[in-house]
Amino acid sequence: MAEKEQRYQLLLAQAKALLDGETDLVANMSNLASLIFNELPNLNGTSFYRFKNDELILGPFQGKPACMHIAIGSGICGTVAATLRSEIVPNVHNFSGHIACDSASKSEIVVPIFKNEQFWGVLDLDSPEFNTFDEIDENYLKQIAPIIFGVKEIVGKEN
Ligand code: SME
Repeated sequence: MAEKEQRYQLLLAQAKALLDGETDLVANMSNLASLIFNELPNLNGTSFYRFKNDELILGPFQGKPACMHIAIGSGICGTVAATLRSEIVPNVHNFSGHIACDSASKSEIVVPIFKNEQFWGVLDLDSPEFNTFDEIDENYLKQIAPIIFGVKEIVGKEN
């Protein structure tokens, strides 16, 4: 298994252990943002945005202060909210409409989060290096993000 996948397997287990027994969403988003930010290499931002009142609003995050409201269809996060598909952006300078919260960001990945099959929000990772993210990140981040809704539900689905 590639080193990156091994790191994510460990991160998945750490996330389940860390959030096990907690159902408060703010607490879970806060600790998961911190865990991801501190365990994955080459990050300068890890942010949750919730879909609320027909826009995205900033949730718990790590990194520099981030923009608080993002319109659907705007920037990378708003594009994901509009299409409900992940965006892997190797060079943010080439993404038309990219919203630069931290000028150090060079590449970015945003995955949608669903709850009960409804769009709930996004998880956004920023990197100060180009080409940081690929399908391995997408695959694991889509599994890790919904752990905020409760470990039992996720574990239950796997078994
Ligand atoms: N770059 C994002 C905005 C969110 S910040 O990076 C935390 C975007 O273009 O949607």
